[in-house]
Amino acid sequence: MVAIHFTDITGCARELDAATGKSLMEVAVSNDVEGIEGTCGGACSCATCHVKIAAAWSAIAGEPSEEELDMLSCVPDADSTSRLACQLMVDERLDGLVVRVAEKLA
Ligand code: FES
Repeated sequence: MVAIHFTDITGCARELDAATGKSLMEVAVSNDVEGIEGTCGGACSCATCHVKIAAAWSAIAGEPSEEELDMLSCVPDADSTSRLACQLMVDERLDGLVVRVAEKLA
């Protein structure tokens, strides 16, 4: 298991045990992380799994794909720390990851 430090949309921070091979979105949804919906089921087409990765983890988390960047370009508050949690697969490198749910801007 991999420890993920997740702060939800209300500011509540929790450490989640995440199984490798799951997406960060799946981990969040199965742990009822407030603010992560995963409406499209991980198809990179809804952005309801928008998260912000702590700066210290961005290189380890890796770069978003072109498809993910296209989706993020539709999100008003996306920035260089933004990722779609459905596109981030949990592996051992992410043990200790610090991430928070992005604010929902209209
Ligand atoms: S769950 Fe829809 S884009 Fe991530």
